[in-house]
Amino acid sequence: MAFIVKKSIHDREYYYLNENKRIGGKVKTKTLAYLGKNRKDAEKKAREFLDKRGKTNEKETAQSSKIKKITEATEIKEISIEDLAAFCKRKGFVYQSGEIYGGLSGFWDFGPLGTELKNNIKKEWWKFHVLQREDIVGIDGSIITHPKIWEASGHVASFIDIEVMNKKTKEKFKVDKFEAEKYSKDPGFEVRGEFNPMFTTNVGSTVSDSIRSYLRPETAQLIFSNFKAVYENSRLKLPCGIAQTGKAFRNEIAPRDFLFRAREFEQMEIEYFIKKGTECPYDIPDVEVMVYSAEAQEQNKEPVFMKVKHALEKGIIKKDWHAYWLATEIHWFLKLGANRGNFRIRQHLKNELSHYSSDTWDLEYKFPFGWKELEGIADRGNFDLSQHEKFSGKEMKIFDEESKERILPEVICEPSLGVERAFLVFMLDSYSYDKERENVVLKLNPKLAPVKAAVFPIVKGEKFEKISEKIVKELKQEFNVLYDKSGSIGRRYARNDEIGTPFCITIDGDSLKNQDVTIRDRDTKKQIRTKISNLRETLRKLIDGKISFDNAGKPFNFN
Ligand code: GAP
Repeated sequence: MAFIVKKSIHDREYYYLNENKRIGGKVKTKTLAYLGKNRKDAEKKAREFLDKRGKTNEKETAQSSKIKKITEATEIKEISIEDLAAFCKRKGFVYQSGEIYGGLSGFWDFGPLGTELKNNIKKEWWKFHVLQREDIVGIDGSIITHPKIWEASGHVASFIDIEVMNKKTKEKFKVDKFEAEKYSKDPGFEVRGEFNPMFTTNVGSTVSDSIRSYLRPETAQLIFSNFKAVYENSRLKLPCGIAQTGKAFRNEIAPRDFLFRAREFEQMEIEYFIKKGTECPYDIPDVEVMVYSAEAQEQNKEPVFMKVKHALEKGIIKKDWHAYWLATEIHWFLKLGANRGNFRIRQHLKNELSHYSSDTWDLEYKFPFGWKELEGIADRGNFDLSQHEKFSGKEMKIFDEESKERILPEVICEPSLGVERAFLVFMLDSYSYDKERENVVLKLNPKLAPVKAAVFPIVKGEKFEKISEKIVKELKQEFNVLYDKSGSIGRRYARNDEIGTPFCITIDGDSLKNQDVTIRDRDTKKQIRTKISNLRETLRKLIDGKISFDNAGKPFNFN
């Protein structure tokens, strides 16, 4: 299938004609032609190119009209990270923090729509990982934390970035110890030294009283330091988990790629505890993904597309718990509308492993700037609990009914996801420019959409506004709903398509007489008619995916 792609480089737009082809089980993208810098010319040139190709290649002639039609109807789905940042700013999703003073690198403020989207991501994560399970409870620990916690966890001694500078461009970036060795032999680079990215602060009212403390660089340690209390208070039984969402801080050497690498960000983490050797009793969700083992990377092989459960059966993933959590995390993203083709799982090479982990798999996503870590899923063993036992002198062991002994549980998996990275995934996978509508359509899952419905009176007059306002008031009891009475109906639809509002409700001349309204579906533009008395319930079912749009009312054609 051929499609037009826009690339933005330093505020300039360039158009290309690309094509996806399946080669040996993999989908590869090939650039067919450069189409210039103007969108309208680009479409014309694309049509000419495909026509010409159809004529010169007899075999393709039969398909030529098909290709052309597909090309004409295709939406532009690709967007660079710079364009996404500009879009987010324009629409009120995300602003550079302190922008009026020139901005502070690595810090971001979420605007009205971004706050809603971020809250919805966290709400869906919490519902899926905590509320809908009986084996996981949640906590909310403090941000400024006791310094001993970070000595025990190894962060003071081992959470080290090494700063390297490109001598020519003066660009600075962070590397690990293994990469630093490589750069130290390259005359084009300067290895500038080690750096602990934890932010420090003083706690106490006077200088003499104060102690140096840290802003937490991960939420995980608050789970470990509270483990014993939470386990006993919540009457947990192994296997079980403790979850937490909240801010984390890292003084990154080179914050970059919009929200991807920030200095202040949020994490959604679970520490999942088992008695050593316990098998995973849960079904592994039936998901397929590209699997990239450490062995395949070492042998310069390509990742393989397979079911996660088959990767376990073949011994590529060593532990059942790891397969279970990897598949569960992918399932969460797919359920909320993320695009399967943009995910893969990659095992850490030995020299990449964090100081606390014996085996880590990352869930990676194909960001516009390449495959990068979205979520880390580490086997932490009993490293953290035993360290806290050692440093605090307090016992972290629990009583095991089976063996009648006190045991130290192991963290068999730690699914750890950044909220901002999930935010980027959902924005990137839902962004599309619709050439027919001539506007962006943000196809966010209704559960994530910042605004669930927009209400428009399309006939002028007090009685139509009154009934619209009454509907808005009723719907606002439960949903974030917008009331929009200005501009043409087309403009109002476009404004809402762009911010991802899944349903637009119009009040027209017949609404007063029949006590009904029209609902328009964002993605298909289909319309249905439904009674005002059913509206709140219908909207709830549509958002929850409990009813299809076609079955939510009577089909309606507005001509
Ligand atoms: N407790 C384990 C831990 O913190 P990590 O791989 O350092 O592991 C986990 O971080 C996740 O937190 C990452 O996969 C990423 O989603 C997010 N994250 C880490 N550093 C980040 C940063 N500087 N900006 C945004 N998100 C970040």
